[in-house]
Parts: sequence; C-alpha cells; structure tokens
Amino acid sequence: MSFHAQTKDRRVTMRDLQEATLRGEKWPMITAYDALSARIFDEAGIPALLVGDSAAMVVYGHDSTLPVTIDELLPLVRAVVRGAPTALVIADLPFGSYQASAAQALETSARFVKEGGAHGVKLEGGIAMVPQIETLASSGIPVIGHLGLTPQSVNSLGGYRVQGRGEAGDVLLRDAKELQAAGASAIVLEAVPAELAARVTDMLSVPTIGIGAGAATDAQVIVWQDLVGMTSGPAPKFVKRYADVHGVMLDAVTRWGNDVREGTFPSAEQSYS
Ligand code: KIV
Repeated sequence: MSFHAQTKDRRVTMRDLQEATLRGEKWPMITAYDALSARIFDEAGIPALLVGDSAAMVVYGHDSTLPVTIDELLPLVRAVVRGAPTALVIADLPFGSYQASAAQALETSARFVKEGGAHGVKLEGGIAMVPQIETLASSGIPVIGHLGLTPQSVNSLGGYRVQGRGEAGDVLLRDAKELQAAGASAIVLEAVPAELAARVTDMLSVPTIGIGAGAATDAQVIVWQDLVGMTSGPAPKFVKRYADVHGVMLDAVTRWGNDVREGTFPSAEQSYS
C-alpha cells in the first residue's frame, strides 16, 4: 500500500513525503491552479500539488514566470486547497516577493499559509537563499528549494537551457548541501544532467524532486498541461504527453460551435418542457 493510500483520511504532510523517500518510495508531484483539476489529481492519488509560478504562463498567458504577483497566485492556492482534500499543497513564491531579505520571504510565505491555506512554499535559488530558508524553516513553514534551471532567473541565465554541466555541477552540489543544511524540506532539480541529479540525490537525505533531471531523483514534478497534452506544438525533451487534451477539447468545442450555428443544439433532449 502506498503512503498516500495510508493517509486517505487525513492530509499528506511534508514529513510523510520525506519518510516515503527514506523508505525508497518514489512519489509524484503535479502543478495545480484550480479546484476541479486539483480534485482530479487528489483522486488520482498524487500526494503533492504545486501551485507553481508557471501560472504566469499557463493561467495568465505571459511568456515567462516573472510577471505573476502574490495577489494573482493567492486565489489559485485557495482554490487548490479547497479542491484537494488529501494532497499537500505547496505555494510557489513569485519573483520579487522573497529575494530581498529573510523578512520579506517570511512575510510573503505567511500570506500564502494564512490567507491561502498552503502547507509549505517553494523558492528558487542557491546559497543566497540560505537566510530565507533558515527563517522559514525555523518559523515552521516547510520550504522547498529549486536549483538548476530557475525560470525566474531566465534573463541572467540567457534562456531556458540545461544547467549544471561541467564545473557548474560542483556549484549546484554545494548549493544543494547548503539548502539542506539551512532547513529545506526538499529540493527541486530542473533541467540538469541525469548524472548530476543522481549525485545530488545520493548526497542529500531530503527528497529531490526532478523535472528534466532524469530517473534517479526521489520524486518527479510536472506542469499538468504538459502532461495531458493541453499545450500543443513541440514540448521540452523531458515532457511525456499522456493524453491529447488539446485535441479532445478542440474537437468538442468545434462540434458544439457547429451544432449551434446549424441549430441542432440544443435539441428537445436538452430543453425544459
Ligand atoms: O512553477 C512551476 O511550475 C515550477 C515547476 C516546474 C517545478 O516551478
């Protein structure tokens, strides 16, 4: 029986996820931005949901994660917590809402916990984030770090590209160790070579959560629209589309539109007498 099945009558905690990792059980995390899809992911037994700042792109239509604000993410966090009765819900801290100081990180995270009902937060960055992580962890807020491709730094990274190749791998290893020592509950590794992610995973006792980081990480995270094929066109190499939701929706909405134009919808069946 999986740890998620064991926690059906209560919410999954960060400690549950860490204990699963210590037992050698891999676990999935998926993004969520609204109540209905959060409910489906919860029903599917996904133990951890991330209200990612990727909402900037997949919900709000921006071309990067940078513009999304606390006030735009907070209602999404509330909706996901309401929609998912069992899964742990993590709120991503938006760009500019935590980098200035540990005090700023605490103020922002407290809003996500108090006003949003989040059970933890995630932030991007290496050793510079140690004060923020120490403050959050010692304030009782589970905090997930995020290393490798950190999309909020796209302008200084020069694009969305694989990180940690060559000597940069040593910096990432050092950062991972520092984040764990500061109190990070888990660490996302995005777009890094599989061999580096395996070394980080071996080195840490807290879970590593991979996205484009190969098979050795303790957990995997994915943007749900990528997973179900809601997005169309070429996908990043690490995405496996498990469905063609774009195609299914396009077909259904096109047929409904045609029926309305032709007067065949609604029929007597969909009408009140
Ligand atoms: O915002 C997000 O969706 C993320 C995941 C891709 C890890 O940070």
